[in-house]
Parts: sequence; C-alpha cells; structure tokens
Amino acid sequence: MEISKILSVDEIDLSDPAFWARPLEEREGAFAMLRAEKPIAFMKEREIPDLPIPTGPGYWSLTRHADILETSRHPEIYCSGKGATSIADLPPEFNEFFGGLINMDDPRHGHQRRIVSRGFTPRALAKLEADVQRRADAIIDRVIERGECDFVADIAAPLPLGIICDMMGIPESQHQMVFERTNTILGLGDPDFMDDPANMIGIALGAGSELAELMNEMAELRRKNPGDDLTSSLLNADLEDGAMDGAELASFFVLLVVAGNETTRNAISHGMKALCDYPDQRRKWVADFEGLAPTAIEEIIRWSTPVIHMRRTCTRDTELGGQAMKEGDKVVLFYCSANRDEKVFADPHQFDLARTPNEHVGFGGPGPHFCLGANLARREIRVMFDRILHRLPDLEITAPPARLESNFIHGIKRMPCAFTPGRPDSSSKK
Ligand code: HEM
Repeated sequence: MEISKILSVDEIDLSDPAFWARPLEEREGAFAMLRAEKPIAFMKEREIPDLPIPTGPGYWSLTRHADILETSRHPEIYCSGKGATSIADLPPEFNEFFGGLINMDDPRHGHQRRIVSRGFTPRALAKLEADVQRRADAIIDRVIERGECDFVADIAAPLPLGIICDMMGIPESQHQMVFERTNTILGLGDPDFMDDPANMIGIALGAGSELAELMNEMAELRRKNPGDDLTSSLLNADLEDGAMDGAELASFFVLLVVAGNETTRNAISHGMKALCDYPDQRRKWVADFEGLAPTAIEEIIRWSTPVIHMRRTCTRDTELGGQAMKEGDKVVLFYCSANRDEKVFADPHQFDLARTPNEHVGFGGPGPHFCLGANLARREIRVMFDRILHRLPDLEITAPPARLESNFIHGIKRMPCAFTPGRPDSSSKK
C-alpha cells in the first residue's frame, strides 16, 4: 500500500470523527507522521453531541510499538480499572454490563481471569475444533450455489458468533438476537447502526441488558442441570477460584460476544480483501496452505488490527519516552500505529504472509490483559481460509468495502463478493 502524507503533524486530530472516515492511505500516512515527529501527542477530547458523558480532558496518544509494549507490561503504572479502557470514562451504569474483566486490575482481574480461563485451555479448544470445522463448512454450503453473497454477513460473521454461542451452550434459536445486539453495542456512533443517536446510551444499555437477561436464563438452567459448556464450568463452585455470580457471568458474556465477535469477523474480512488485493500472496498461500498458515494468520491480524486502541490511566506521576505524565492522565495505545512501526517491521505497509518475525500487538501488548481468545481466533481464521481458498477458489470482492466509521473497531460492514458456483459438500454434517 502507498501511504499518503497529506496532513501536517499539527493538523492531525485523532478525536475528530472525520479523521476516521479518511481513506486508509491517509490514515496510515498520518500515523507515520506522528510516529516520526510527535509519537506521544496530546489530543483534546471532543464533546460528543447529545451524549450525557462529560467531555474528558484529553489523552496521550501512543503511536510507537516500544511505548505500547512498555505500558502493557506495567499495569501497576498504566491501569485498566479507572474510568474504562475506552477513551471516554463510562457512565457508572455501564459498568454493570460492560465493566467486566477488561476494565479491572489485580487482584480482582487475576481472580476473574483464572476462572474464565477454564474455557480457553488447550483441552477446551481441542473440544471446539470439531465445531469450528463443522460451522465453517456449513457456512460455505449455504452460499456456494449462489455464486455471490455479502462476504461479511454471509461468510465472515457467522463463524465467531456461532462458536462463542457453542462455547456458552446458547441454543441456535438465540444466535441472531445475540448478533444484532452485539452490532448495536459496537457500532455506536456509526450512522448505519444508530436509528436514534440522541439515545445512544439507552440503546446500548438496552442491548446489553437483553444479552445479560439471556445469560441469566442460561445460568438458571445450568445451575439446575449442568452441561459440558463454559457456562456450567463458570458456575461450578467446586473448582479452584470458585464460581462467578450471576452478574459477573452476564457481564463476562457481554464482554465475550463483544470482544470475540466483531474482531474475528473483521480479521477474516480484511484478510480476504488483502488476499484479493495481493494476488501473488494468495497464490503462494494456496500452493502451500499448511506451511504458510502460521505466519499468514499473524500477518492477517497485523494487517487488519481489528481493535484500533485500548486506553490506560496513569496511577501516579510518571515518564514515558521522555514525556512527563500526571496521575490520572489518560493514555491511549494505538495498536494500528504500533503494527506499522517501521522500527519493528520491515516494509510495514507490505502484506507479506511469510513475515518473520512478526511481533504485532493486534491481540494487545504483553501483559495481564493479553487477548484471552487469541488462540481461538487464530484457529477460526485458519479453518475459514482453508475452506474459502479450497472450496471458493476464485472468490473476488466485487465492490469497495463499506467501512465502519469508528476510532475503536477497524471494521467492514458490507463487502459484496462473487465466485463460480459449486455444490454443497454432502459429507459435511450440519
Ligand atoms: C482477531 C480476533 C481478536 C482480536 C484482534 C482481539 C483483540 C484483543 C485485544 C487488543 C485485547 C486487549 C485488551 C487490553 O489490553 O486492554 C483483547 C482482550 C480480550 N479478548 Fe480478544 N481479540 C480477538 C478475539 C477474541 C476472541 C475470539 C475472544 C473470545 C471468544 C476474545 C476475548 C477477549 C477477552 C475476554 C479479553 C479481555 C482479557 C483481559 O482483560 O484479561 N478475543 N482482545
């Protein structure tokens, strides 16, 4: 990709929604300028019209890989539990549904993380493997005779959602509801997903409480009748570290669907777009799928960087990269920029499926909050591309993707694609 540096460093305003609607080449150009000239720029926060959240004082924008590693490694200085990991402090009523694990510090964080890790052990993931394969084949079977579809809604979205619901033991009949409510929560601010911008908080809280309600019903069922799913194991007080209570379970579920759904879906969508834009890379992967898969998946995560930023808050006065910071200052880790840092990645704007080393921070930096679902996401991406490249080998994107206008999720809302129609695989069990 050729980046375009049309903004001077002083013109860059990461708080301006219009910045996030700019073409990607310009966005990448702006981050390259910041890394070179103002790697820890202070950005003022903007008032968000109609939102009953007070406008915050501003934040330090970390754009270099090294500074993001440093802050991730030191949660005692750069914590997650004050205000939120979003730039705006969340109103307290949000914390009920959205204030899970990701917005906690030790010791509470460590305790909760040990409990939820029960769902992500190698054994638990091995158990999900058959679900991932079966679901990926069923997704292709549903579109293969049509010869065209929306890549996002029909191919990329159903897998991560289905798998999270499988993990938790949620019945298929509720999957569509979970999908729609998650979109509402993460699409906040994007005009397409908001019928009523003045009531953004109410809409998000409504969606969160519907998800929480579903989980409460599930919890009741599983308490009476435990099954072989994560919900049952999170409620099992006999295991080390004890059980989650109902409210914790609901808030964990909201975090899981929000954290695991759109992220994986967008990695798959951006990955497909990149394979179409770089046909040489695609040919190489098709020629040696298994051999290239480990590095290819990491490069797809680096390239797509589905989570653009997370925030930390300084617990005391400190200094980072020569910049003095005060206790209470907000620090925003721009993963999208760290993943293009020319000091760490050779030709960072090149999509290279064989890239080694590839120390990207797409799943967060090294530290206590490193993505819990990283191995699951890697697995889903691998299986999905295996199926797409082998069963829809000439799939092409037929119109420019409709991008999500967000400074938080690097998302694609719609992306039409076409391929030579084929036949459903009668051997795949639905
Ligand atoms: C390509 C897909 C994914 C990406 C890019 C991604 C990215 C991230 C990032 C950047 C964080 C760090 C948050 C921080 O440091 O504050 C995170 C945390 C987390 N992710 Fe993921 N994620 C993905 C998939 C998943 C999946 C599939 C799940 C679960 C099903 C998941 C569950 C979580 C959870 C629970 C946390 C919070 C961990 C904690 O605070 O201890 N993620 N993810």
